[in-house]
Amino acid sequence: MDITHPIYLVGGSKGGVGKSMVTLALAHYLQRQDIHAVLVETDTSNPDVMKALRDEFTCAAYDLDDADGWIGFVNFCDMHRGAAVIVNTAARNQTGVTRYGSTLARTLDELGRELVVLWVINRQRDSLELLHIFGQTFPDTVTHVVRNGYFGAPDKFALYEESQVRKTIETKGRSLDFPDLADRVADELRSQRDSIRRAAETMHIGQRAELFRWRELCDAMFSKVVSSERTPHDQ
Ligand SMILES: Nc1ncnc2c1ncn2[C@@H]1O[C@H](COP(=O)(O)OP(=O)(O)OP(=O)(O)O)[C@@H](O)[C@H]1O
Ligand SMILES: [Mg+2]
Repeated sequence: MDITHPIYLVGGSKGGVGKSMVTLALAHYLQRQDIHAVLVETDTSNPDVMKALRDEFTCAAYDLDDADGWIGFVNFCDMHRGAAVIVNTAARNQTGVTRYGSTLARTLDELGRELVVLWVINRQRDSLELLHIFGQTFPDTVTHVVRNGYFGAPDKFALYEESQVRKTIETKGRSLDFPDLADRVADELRSQRDSIRRAAETMHIGQRAELFRWRELCDAMFSKVVSSERTPHDQ
């Protein structure tokens, strides 16, 4: 029996919270789980994830600030029914998501898809406020909050810890911890526009050791939210 893979939307709305890093890590995780995945890049002015992944994944770019972009995006999901769809969102997409997100929300049933949101946060209040607004557009969606360790250890996310948003999230989703990667390795990864697979092949031994340490922690995080391709019948 085929499993329909979800649409994974990596959100966060805010600039620089780590959406692209999480998207790269998720793409690499799915790749290593042998789950066929395709990428939707919505950061059309700075398609950094698409540049890093285009040799390894089928990619398409859609501007989600625009109704046409949403139509293209929904059609792309339909065209790739056998694949997981990973969506890298741009900081500025918030207005478009609020305005047109219902286009997708209404179509998910017909597409036979689940939408799984990975909402990346830093330690500031507006990360949570934007999440609240997003939740109103997609009330039935499973959302996981990703505390990005780049901004500090999990116990530094006190605002989130004490928030009502966390309680709401944890009724359906999880609070996750995305590991911090050493700056030197993160900078090299991003400046080379490399995928993690390519970086794992080409980096110097020291950087590679750090990359593998980080990848193991990423694996532990994603394994909590990515359903395995195998069904009970073929295990
Ligand atoms: N977990 C992490 N470990 C190490 N560095 C990180 C991590 N998360 C983010 N960074 C650093 O922060 C920078 C910004 O992250 P990223 O580009 O993923 O953010 P973004 O949310 O996609 O930003 P934008 O809104 O501009 O698209 C990265 O280039 C990287 O240097
Ligand atoms: Mg980005």
